[in-house]
Amino acid sequence: MNVWRRLSGPRRALALAGAGVLVAGGLVTIPVTAAQAATQCDIAYSANEWPGGFTASITIKNVGDPINGWTLGWTFPNSGQRVQQGWSAEFTQSGSQVTARSLSYNGTLATGASTSIGFNGAWSGSNPKPTSFTLNGVTCNGGTTPPTTPPPTGSKVDNPYAGVRGYVNPEWKTKADAEPGGSRISNNPTAVWLDRIAAINGTPDSSSNGAFGVRDHLEEALRQGAGYIQFVIYNLPGRDCAALASNGELGPNDLPRYKAEYIDPIAAIQADPKYRNIRIINIIEIDSLPNLVTNTSGQAGGTAMCDTVKANGAYVNGVGYALAKLGTLGNVYNYIDAAHHGWIGWDTNFGPTADLLKTAAVASGSTVANVHGFIVNTANYSALREPYVKITDTVNGTSVRQSKWIDWNFYVDELSFAQAFRQKLVQVGFDANIGMLIDTSRNGWGGTARPTGPGATTSVDTYVNGGRIDRRIHAGNWCNQSGAGLGERPRSAPEPGIDAYVWVKPPGESDGSSELIPNDEGKGFDRMCDPTYTGNARNGNSATGALPNAPISGAWFSAQFQELMRNAYPAL
Ligand code: BGC
Repeated sequence: MNVWRRLSGPRRALALAGAGVLVAGGLVTIPVTAAQAATQCDIAYSANEWPGGFTASITIKNVGDPINGWTLGWTFPNSGQRVQQGWSAEFTQSGSQVTARSLSYNGTLATGASTSIGFNGAWSGSNPKPTSFTLNGVTCNGGTTPPTTPPPTGSKVDNPYAGVRGYVNPEWKTKADAEPGGSRISNNPTAVWLDRIAAINGTPDSSSNGAFGVRDHLEEALRQGAGYIQFVIYNLPGRDCAALASNGELGPNDLPRYKAEYIDPIAAIQADPKYRNIRIINIIEIDSLPNLVTNTSGQAGGTAMCDTVKANGAYVNGVGYALAKLGTLGNVYNYIDAAHHGWIGWDTNFGPTADLLKTAAVASGSTVANVHGFIVNTANYSALREPYVKITDTVNGTSVRQSKWIDWNFYVDELSFAQAFRQKLVQVGFDANIGMLIDTSRNGWGGTARPTGPGATTSVDTYVNGGRIDRRIHAGNWCNQSGAGLGERPRSAPEPGIDAYVWVKPPGESDGSSELIPNDEGKGFDRMCDPTYTGNARNGNSATGALPNAPISGAWFSAQFQELMRNAYPAL
């Protein structure tokens, strides 16, 4: 029992990532079919109004033959209703009649395809919705009955990833496309990391941050017709308290700045009704709360910074504030980071982490209703499944839990862990409908080193080490892991309880520099990223398995990107 306690407490592996998706709830779509015409259309019109003004969003769905160039028309019921400034179409108004023409990039609509446009308008008297629309002169009969106020929180969709296309970050795509073979994966949605205050408005393209700010990404998402976009909220005071590679700009006592200069401006942009038809998914604060469970005083991984931010409430209150501000928006979905099985898969960590997540979810005026779900394995490398090692397996009467690799953990892969942790979270008071996300960006472990069957039954160690998909030296290793491959491509509802496999850590972005590199981002040098380091108590004093010549966290790491593609599983 002592051995179990000693070994189980400090296990962890850092991971970083984020994602986000939104849906403007309350959109009413009325299918309409034009008689005896090849043109058939569904129009969804929604408006958000205030005295004298409104913003309208219109989604045009082509349910007829393919269209090449479209003109949408409608008549405002009231003579005081005017289009003032529109987007994603060319608008003209004559009297009460409005015409919106497609632009060069959104005129082609295959059967079943949709595109969204919108405008800011003015009204006097009243602002009723148009009752009928035409597309290329053909009536989309039936009209619409749109809501005029944002939907209440309760009306969020259950799974914001379902049935819609994800936003492709053009800044990541450009880097991926510049790599030989990169275009094979560059159309996948990856998360946008808001890893410093300056990222909100965008910065001149530096080594690890983009020129696009939050609004630029949302505008681009509208242009892409994306159904969801993923942001990582990642800037807590005293960030990354147990490691150095992703330390941030805010000191441990900077909670007021976190609220006023970081969360509030992000919430203000996400609340813009222009974006209400996009499901905005926020991945909340990677690695933060689990560090308070496993890496404070008296534990093998304990640090003074983790003690400080636990004692002053910076993490709990910061996460609570972010949830409260962002979660009340009708089209915003919060998923809190919940580490991974190689960190909290021991009983000593499992329950206490769930309890702490609950504490944060009701801090700073938040309620559990602001939490749509949780993400595991963010920026980590744990395999999704271990087909040749089950946690219940025994070798010559000895449980595989006694192997050096598993080390008494109760889980051996992320899928079983995510599903079990989901149940635990419901048990401690989260909504029964919460969904889990699994970051599969780098947990593929394909290539020639991938086992094709169980290991030899000489001992639990030969059995586990020979058969495990995860080829790391130690499950606590987390930085730029050598031999890793891309995992499952992003997709929704892959397994019960799982809302999506996501790519939160953008493949090709470093976890940390392999030697000290001065920078102005607050990033430190963590020896877990140094391939010559022989480890510490947290990784069983093992070699780090990190790739050499790595740039600072977030910066493009071409050699790693190439290896991830080579070792992809499923293969590219
Ligand atoms: C870094 C961030 C970066 C993110 C995604 C983190 O490790 O600290 O700056 O945006 O990874 O690559």
